Amino acid sequence: MIGAWLAEMDGPRLSGPPSRLRGTETDREMNQHVTAERADPVRIQPTGREVVRLVGLKRRFGATAALDGVSLTVRRGEILGIIGRSGAGKSTLIRCLNGLERPDSGAVFIEDREIGRLSERELQPLRRRIGMVFQHFNLLSAKTVEENVALPLKIEGRPRAERLARAAELLQLVGLSEKANAYPASLSGGQKQRVGIARALAARPALLLSDEATSALDPETTRSILALLKDINSRLGLTILLITHEMEVIRSIADRVAVIDAGRIVEEGAVWQVFANPKSEITRSLLGGIRPQLPPEIASQLIAGEGAETILRIDVAGEAARGALLSDLAVAAPGRFRLVHGGVDHVQGQPVGTLFLAVAGAEAAHLARVTTFLKDRGARVEVLGHVAGPV
Ligand SMILES: Nc1ncnc2c1ncn2[C@@H]1O[C@H](COP(=O)(O)OP(=O)(O)OP(=O)(O)O)[C@@H](O)[C@H]1O
Ligand SMILES: [Mg+2]
Repeated sequence: MIGAWLAEMDGPRLSGPPSRLRGTETDREMNQHVTAERADPVRIQPTGREVVRLVGLKRRFGATAALDGVSLTVRRGEILGIIGRSGAGKSTLIRCLNGLERPDSGAVFIEDREIGRLSERELQPLRRRIGMVFQHFNLLSAKTVEENVALPLKIEGRPRAERLARAAELLQLVGLSEKANAYPASLSGGQKQRVGIARALAARPALLLSDEATSALDPETTRSILALLKDINSRLGLTILLITHEMEVIRSIADRVAVIDAGRIVEEGAVWQVFANPKSEITRSLLGGIRPQLPPEIASQLIAGEGAETILRIDVAGEAARGALLSDLAVAAPGRFRLVHGGVDHVQGQPVGTLFLAVAGAEAAHLARVTTFLKDRGARVEVLGHVAGPV
């Protein structure tokens, strides 16, 4: 039954009549929706490749450049993660995106309409094209779960029967049908966020904005909420912009990631590629917790010059990580080596590996053979130093 609102998920266009003019849907029209849904349950009509385009956005607060020339696009149907430390400019970016903040310069396009040119009144229907999910849920405590979910439709002036039908569909989608008449105070954090997600979807948004939606939840609940967002994205084709300071969130569900630091996008790309080959220092630092690092007990024993073993860091991803790298290395450059740390992870279904090898001996020619072989196989190799004996 989610198809009734799903069918309209990508329409009407912003250039069409404001949705309040469509607010008097008759039962006959409702039935037509249902008939159309049965004929084609996942009918979505894409209307353009980009849902959001930001061009050179700047916003200063006194001496602070909260946004310092941000250009970014969110493609239809993708999950784009924006990650940055506290104060990097994430919330300012979101506020510019839904028109709550006016940038000093630059432009925000939502579905090809530049919002800077719109009046507050013209912005209203556009804001309804953006669903928001908040860190602290922002539910109304005096309203039931069902009323909270239906609230955006009430604001739009939709008929009660339609509101209730859609709230029921959405509660089923988020797995909370039995809580329709409960009040938020009786729900767990994860359940509250499910209500928040259902409410954000009520007005058939073109874009779902998630601002630290899992930051207040425990790890297990976080996983289930992220799985729900991914499910909504892949089953319904809904575009999601995910703001977070946690790489684990990006890794779990995002297709692409943009790293923001001091108001600038410092790095952008497919998640697995950024994980495999982070270019900026800030990205490496944000990845630090979830990509393998040389354990301190080995790092503290590293010496420059010569030692019994040489410690190499090998980064390998995609095609290069699928071959029999280590056994081929043993054949190409015969000699002892040990895996002292690391392994191969999978990000977006792509292998992304970091291996720390201790290669025996200090013979330069042997080490050159090892590194040349690995580089020829598409790996990045870094000599970290030497150790005097077994580590
Ligand atoms: N209304 C404001 N007045 C003054 N300074 C502001 C205002 N809003 C944001 N800033 C400043 O702009 C910078 C970016 O703030 P922003 O809230 O966008 O960061 P953030 O990335 O969302 O951080 P957090 O992860 O802590 O939420 C910060 O230095 C902040 O202090
Ligand atoms: Mg913020």
